[in-house]
Amino acid sequence: MILDKIDELLKEVQTLSAKNADEVEQLRLKYLSKKGEITALMNDFRNVAADQKKTVGMKINELKTLATERINQLREECETQETGDVTLDLTRTPYPVKLGTRHPLTIVTNEIIDIFSRMGFVLADGPEVEDDLHVFTKMNFAADHPARDMQDTFFVSQHPNDVTKNILLRSHTSSVQARVMENMHDENGKLTAPIRVICPGRVYRNEAITARAHCFFHQVEGLYIDKNVSFTDLKQVLLSFAKEMFGADTKIRLRPSYFPFTEPSAEMDISCFICGGEGCGFCKHTGWVEILGCGMVDPNVLEQCGIDSSVYSGYAFGMGVERITNLKYRVNDLRLFSENDTRFLEEFEAAD
Ligand code: PHE
Repeated sequence: MILDKIDELLKEVQTLSAKNADEVEQLRLKYLSKKGEITALMNDFRNVAADQKKTVGMKINELKTLATERINQLREECETQETGDVTLDLTRTPYPVKLGTRHPLTIVTNEIIDIFSRMGFVLADGPEVEDDLHVFTKMNFAADHPARDMQDTFFVSQHPNDVTKNILLRSHTSSVQARVMENMHDENGKLTAPIRVICPGRVYRNEAITARAHCFFHQVEGLYIDKNVSFTDLKQVLLSFAKEMFGADTKIRLRPSYFPFTEPSAEMDISCFICGGEGCGFCKHTGWVEILGCGMVDPNVLEQCGIDSSVYSGYAFGMGVERITNLKYRVNDLRLFSENDTRFLEEFEAAD
């Protein structure tokens, strides 16, 4: 019965019309005021049988929203007619208010942080404008290492006679490792607490901008230092990460590699989640896709940062967020991430 009444009002409300503000006010009184018909329905709601409450409640809400919207709309129409300005009302609230969406790189970074947080890693942060000491020297780069060259690094100031004084835009988040390590030991090189950090951030390299390279991108770095940390620990943490990020069936493979700051070093591939490792166009028919670099922290790095390498060992890993986002969402042009094209960004509305 009450449902019939609601349906009747729903129909009525859809066709409401008014010629001027007074008539709109009459409609508001009729339907929405304290003595209005919809308020009356809401009062009757108390008597509705318990098993009907959900349906009836939803319907009444629908009716109320519709009536409010319709009456507001009529009011606006009358107001614009009265001021004679049909096109421009700067005071009008745009409705519905459009919410922004999270950037895909933020979504993926947050997901990576979440996974490592559950494994006990805490966030660490460092500056994007860095000194040579933290980006290169303490990371065991030789003074003539090519990565110090203008080709790869953006310099803020250069000191040809003493490269360790250079100021630059960091070319990897490994600089945060150095900053964390420096601050976590006493004067005898003993750690004040085990280090287990995850460091997300933007990095810069002097590259021409194309679909596959950009002058800035994002990395997430991980670092774990304690007594008796082994390569097995590293492998297990990375396997857990890969399974959480790409699905429980994911396999990993470590290939020997080289980084100045880790020894031994490796690059990690995950089994291609598109073909399941069978081989397809996406993984160039290898069944594997590369996602990160890792290794045991080189004892030289520990010593450079003041940590006793005869007592402590550790592992580090670093991954490109764009790379992982490309894999997860099949974005194949890096430039999309920084163009701020809302048509692209809105596609990630539901991915949050
Ligand atoms: N810093 C390396 C890079 O930018 C990644 C890495 C981090 C490798 C930590 C090993 C350990 O490519």
